[in-house]
Amino acid sequence: MTDEDLVRLAREAAAKAYAPYSNFHVGCAIESVDGDVVTGANMENACYRLGICAEQSGLSAAQHRFGLGKVARIAVSGGTGAVVCTPCGGCRQAILEAAQLGGRDVEILCASGDGSSVERHTIGELIPFGFGPANLSEGE
Ligand code: THU
Repeated sequence: MTDEDLVRLAREAAAKAYAPYSNFHVGCAIESVDGDVVTGANMENACYRLGICAEQSGLSAAQHRFGLGKVARIAVSGGTGAVVCTPCGGCRQAILEAAQLGGRDVEILCASGDGSSVERHTIGELIPFGFGPANLSEGE
């Protein structure tokens, strides 16, 4: 799948977000090492703090479809304009979990809601010196 295809799926997923409180719709598309793709979107709640981000929703689907350890590439798209949407700190930590499980540096395409801008990063760049499952299994 091309970068453009993955970003398009993330933008389509954003259209299915449930975000009546922030009105900020985020979508995410996650590709496995084998080319399987799952999507997710943010889902908010009247008890605001219970809302979940698009990436966490997508990662849950990834675990069910092909396993977190197979996550290779993630596209995220949010908002309505030309400003790219980068994963929040909590989502970076959740992506780091998948990256360390799989032993690979997951690629992240951060796209604007209108699809006009895309920035390419890796989880290693977005959360340097992170704490993950590798730390817990240290010395085993
Ligand atoms: N949001 C995401 O879904 N992913 C991010 O990485 C950033 C923020 C959601 C959470 C909330 O529903 C809305 O965007 C506004 O913060």
